[in-house]
Amino acid sequence: MPTTFPLPSYEHARRVVAESADLPPAPASLLRVRRAASSDLDDLVALEQRSFNSDRLSRAQYRRHLDSDSALVLVASANHRHFLGNAVLFFRKGSGAARLYSLATQPEARGQGVGAALLEAAAEVARRRGCRALRLEVRADNHSAIKLYERLGYRRITALAAYYQDGADGWRYEKLLD
Ligand SMILES: CC(C)(COP(=O)(O)OP(=O)(O)OC[C@H]1O[C@@H](n2cnc3c(N)ncnc32)[C@H](O)[C@@H]1OP(=O)(O)O)[C@@H](O)C(=O)NCCC(=O)NCCS
Repeated sequence: MPTTFPLPSYEHARRVVAESADLPPAPASLLRVRRAASSDLDDLVALEQRSFNSDRLSRAQYRRHLDSDSALVLVASANHRHFLGNAVLFFRKGSGAARLYSLATQPEARGQGVGAALLEAAAEVARRRGCRALRLEVRADNHSAIKLYERLGYRRITALAAYYQDGADGWRYEKLLD
């Protein structure tokens, strides 16, 4: 049985206009964010492969994160069980900051608000768990992700030299949660 995301407010309505033929046939559908279940593992691993060339989460890591109290995997869907994107959040005991470790949208669903909905849900979960900030790292050359983070109120706090497996630089961003 898939786990239903426990906080109904994350199922807030967002209209996703399906401009791509690969999306569900309805012209518009309700975008929901829920907690991932073990039945999502295949989709999580497939999206990871499609979205990242390095620093990928493995199937075993995803399986561990699904079962962990210090991690939360979120899935965005439109219509029944459709898998449009995911986010991975980490929490550390005693830390007031949660970490958004991963965010990805299916390539054919990008540019339609899925990433923003996942980010908003991640911030809301972190806030409800008592965190005062949400942090994330992003490759310095990932312009679309950086644009999205800055639009949603994340600010650059640290430069990360040669941070990624392939030697690319990155930035750490933070959003204060009130
Ligand atoms: C970064 C990413 C998660 C954004 O997801 P998304 O669902 O496209 O996000 P949104 O639709 O909410 O916002 C994307 C922005 O790009 C614009 N955009 C338009 N067409 C787009 C397209 N075809 N592809 C990507 N972005 C597009 C959107 O309008 C939006 O701009 P805005 O911020 O000015 O409104 C997604 O591009 C992705 O999965 N990239 C590969 C993995 C990755 O880099 N993850 C981030 C790691 S830090």
